[in-house]
Parts: sequence; structure tokens; C-alpha cells
Amino acid sequence: AEKKRIAVLPGDGIGPEIVDESVKVIKETGKQFGYDFECSFGMVGGGAIERLKNPLPEETLTLCRNSDAVLLGAVGGPRWDSNPPHLRPEKALLGLRQELGLFANLRPATLFPGLEKSSSLKPEVLEGVDLLVVRELTGGIYFGEKYTEETGEGARATDTLVYYEHEIERIVRRAFRLAKGRRRRITSVDKANVLESSRLWRRVVDRVSKDFPEVRVQHMLVDNCAMQIISRPADFDVIVTENMFGDILSDEAAMLTGSIGMLPSASLGKGPLGLYEPVHGSAPDLAGQGVANPIAAILSSAMMFRHSFHDEEAARAIESAVKKVLSSGARTTDIALAGSLALSTEEFGDRVCEALRRYGPDP
Ligand code: NAD
Ligand code: IPM
Ligand code: MN
Repeated sequence: AEKKRIAVLPGDGIGPEIVDESVKVIKETGKQFGYDFECSFGMVGGGAIERLKNPLPEETLTLCRNSDAVLLGAVGGPRWDSNPPHLRPEKALLGLRQELGLFANLRPATLFPGLEKSSSLKPEVLEGVDLLVVRELTGGIYFGEKYTEETGEGARATDTLVYYEHEIERIVRRAFRLAKGRRRRITSVDKANVLESSRLWRRVVDRVSKDFPEVRVQHMLVDNCAMQIISRPADFDVIVTENMFGDILSDEAAMLTGSIGMLPSASLGKGPLGLYEPVHGSAPDLAGQGVANPIAAILSSAMMFRHSFHDEEAARAIESAVKKVLSSGARTTDIALAGSLALSTEEFGDRVCEALRRYGPDP
């Protein structure tokens, strides 16, 4: 069996609940596809602040660096919301992304059969939805200089949005390569009518596009894109955009799939190490109830097989197990229709494992 080390960082709120289900699915997939997984748990976010006064302890970072892949739940919660920046759970995510060089964040939004009715949009608008947001993850306004100062007119706060040309080029190239393997269309999203960084972004996209003549490129302003995503979502294939625009557009795109609880992500860099986490947060309103949707976390593990272990077959087995469970009518609360029965987080995870056992490859 192929040995792989996975760093598991459950985090806060519903993080541990959904990660448990994802780990179960990873182990089941490992049995079916011949892996020997060593899962080591690490502290991150609010829990790490409580115990070690550090949202991203050095030992957690070391654990990640010594692993083949990282699986993360979610961080954050009201308890830490008024902490100073270096003692906020979210700082752990930013630190992991930066320290591990994970500049490319892949956030696919696909509609599973039967879930049209769970979305707030009309089923006919959703037909054929299959888009991929490629979000720049280690630059832009998240990582620019930021400070608050006292002035004669009161407090003044500054955030800066900065991009080097090379930072734009590497994410754009990644997006073009991904588009080549899909429907060969790219929408580059920016605010070039106002922002200098967006004008540079546009120039880089135009230059890189010459190396990919088979991919059709379109520039779109972010405000228009926010509207187009819900008016004709099926027309989008790959969307490539800067850090904060990608954050916002991907939560919006989640509703095309029925729930934010459906959206997985992969954060990749130059090297082989990848981090896999749901797009959603720690959902403090659901924490501890065992009702959170584990699909985003489970599909993130499918992305782990695809992008870190280069095992497309295992990735598809997980995705089709999720599809089969959904086709059987099983739902969690967020995607269940009013009045219908919903499974718990754990029950849903068990069903996915069962489907994997039943339909996985013969031993
Ligand atoms: P959220 O994604 O946690 O929740 C938004 C809404 O979606 C809530 O109503 C929640 O109940 C629902 N939801 C989210 N995940 C769900 C799931 N798996 N199943 C069913 N419903 C689900 O966003 P928020 O409320 O804005 O943020 C809460 C905390 O999470 C904040 O501290 C924020 O900073 C943090 N956060 C963390 C991450 C991360 O760790 N990657 C991402 C986003 C937000
Ligand atoms: C996400 C989250 C994070 C982000 C926060 C929690 C720092 O919203 O992963 O989408 O903005 O990147
Ligand atoms: Mn977000």
C-alpha cells in the first residue's frame, strides 16, 4: 500500500464535526484504493489560541510541512471576534496559506442532480452549472500593508491592495491550464475601470492568453460578474480573480449548488503540498448540534486524491459516492426541503462510506 501522511486540522465550530466525516471517507477510500494513511491531528484557530495563545502554533506548521497533504475544517467564532489581529483564528488560515506558498485556490461549484430545488434560484437557470473559481490566495488586499492611526479628524484605517506581475502571472497560468482540461473558457474578473492593480491584472491575462490560443478569454468587471453568476451561471467555466473578489464570488456561487455546505476547495502552490478545506466557515450557529453538511469537507478530500495523490479514479469514486447518496434522497438540514426528514452529519458520512464500499473497485 502507498504510504501517505495527512495533517488533519479540525479547528473550531463545526470544523471537528465535518472533518471527522471527511477522515472516515479518506480511510474508506484508502482501503479500496490501496493507501496506508497516517493522519496526525494538529491545533489551529480558536482552540490553539486558548491552549497556546497562538492561532497557528509552530508545531502545527511543522506537522503540515512534513505531510503529503493538509485537511482543514474551519476556524473562527464569536468568542475571538474582538481579539487583536495576531490573536484571531482567521490569522491561522492566512498564515498557513502564506507559509506554505498556497497561491492557487480552486473552488469548484457543481450542481448535483436533485439539488436544484435546494437552491434559491430557478431550476431552469441552474441547468448545466459547472464552474470553477480560481482565486488568488496569497496576495492582494488580504496581505498588503494595513494599519490604523489617530488623526486630527479621528481614527483612520488603511488596507492596501498590491500585486506583483509575477504573482498575477502564476495564478493566471494555473487557471488557463485548468481551463484547457475543461470547457476551455476563462472569465477574468477585475475592477479595471477603477483599480490600478486590476489594469495590471488585465494586461497579464492578455499576455498569458497568447500561450493558450485554444482557450476563449473574456474580461468582466466584478460587479457585473456578481450579477451574471446568478443570471446565467451555466455560461461560466473557469473564473480567475484576485483574493477578495474570489472570496466573495465563491460564496455567491455556492448558492448555485444548493448550499454553502456543498463547496470544497483545494489550495495549491508550486510544490506538491496542498491544503484541502470547505469554502464555508465554522458556522457557530450550528456547532455542536451534529447537523452540519459534511459534503464540502468530503468533496475536499476527493480534491486531495486528485491534486495531491494524482489519483483521479479515487477522487471520482468519492464524488460518485456523494452523488449516489444524494440520489437516494438523503439530505442534511441545509439542503433538505421544508418538512422533509434530514440526516445528521455523522449519518450522512456513514452513507457515503457505505456507498464507497458498495461501488468501489474490487479488492
Ligand atoms: P459560515 O460559512 O460559517 O456560515 C454562513 C452560513 O452558512 C451560516 O448560516 C451557517 O450555518 C451556514 N453553513 C456554513 N457551513 C455549513 C455547513 N457545512 N452545513 C450547513 N450550513 C452551513 O460564515 P460566517 O457565519 O460568516 O462565519 C463564521 C465564522 O467562520 C467566522 O469566524 C469566520 O471568520 C469564519 N470563517 C472561516 C472560514 C474557514 O475556516 N475557512 C471560512 C469562512 C468563515
Ligand atoms: C475563506 C474565508 C477566509 C478568507 C477567512 C476566514 C480569512 O472566508 O476561506 O473563504 O477570507 O479567505
Ligand atoms: Mn470566504
